[in-house]
Amino acid sequence: MGETCIFREASNKDLGDILKIERESFEAEAFEKHVFESILEVFPELFIVVECGGAIAGFVAGIVEGGLCHLVDIAVKPGLRRRGLGERLMEVFEVKCASLGLSRAVLEVKTTNIPAVNLYVKRGFKHVGTIKGYYPDGTDALIMEKELEGGARVGEGEWEAYVGEVL
Ligand SMILES: CC(C)(COP(=O)(O)OP(=O)(O)OC[C@H]1O[C@@H](n2cnc3c(N)ncnc32)[C@H](O)[C@@H]1OP(=O)(O)O)[C@@H](O)C(=O)NCCC(=O)NCCS
Repeated sequence: MGETCIFREASNKDLGDILKIERESFEAEAFEKHVFESILEVFPELFIVVECGGAIAGFVAGIVEGGLCHLVDIAVKPGLRRRGLGERLMEVFEVKCASLGLSRAVLEVKTTNIPAVNLYVKRGFKHVGTIKGYYPDGTDALIMEKELEGGARVGEGEWEAYVGEVL
C-alpha cells in the first residue's frame, strides 16, 4: 500500500534529519550544517524536502547563481531509494526554479555516480562540460544543464499539485 508523501519547503527543524541523510549518502564528503543553513536563509524556495509517513525521506537544495538555478545537493534516505522520490524531487526543484523566472538549471555530478547521472539524464539534463579533479577525492565532475521549458509561466499552483502525493 502507498504512503502519503508531502513535498514542502524545508525549515530549520528539518536540518537534523537532512544532515543524517547527507552523511549516510556522502560520508567524508558530506556538506556541513552551515551550508544547509545558508541555503535555507537565502533561497528557502529552492530547499525542498519530501516527508513520507511523517519522516524526512529526502531533500533537494539549490541556489540562484549567475541567472541560473544551480542544484547544490540532492539525496534520498538509503532505504527509500529506487521508488521515484529522487525523480519527483527533481521535478519539484525544476518547477520551483521556473516559478522564480529562471530558464536554465545547472549541476555538477561525479563521473562515477551512476545513479545520479542516470537520474539527471532521465530528467533531460545534458553533459556540457567536465571539471578535472573537482571533488576532494580527485574525481572529475560532469557539468550538466537543462533548459526549463515553460520558464516563468510555470506557477505556484503547479508546485502545489505535488503536495500530498501518494506513492
Ligand atoms: C541519486 C539519488 C538521489 C536517486 O534517488 P532515487 O529516489 O533512488 O531515484 P529514483 O527512484 O527517482 O530513480 C530515478 C532514476 O534515477 C536513476 N537511478 C536511480 N538509482 C539508480 C541506480 N542505483 N542505478 C542506476 N540508475 C539509478 C534511474 O534512471 C531511475 O529511473 P528508473 O527507475 O526508471 O530506472 C539517490 O541514489 C541518492 O540519494 N544517492 C546518494 C546521494 C547522491 O549521490 N546525490 C547526487 C549528488 S550529485
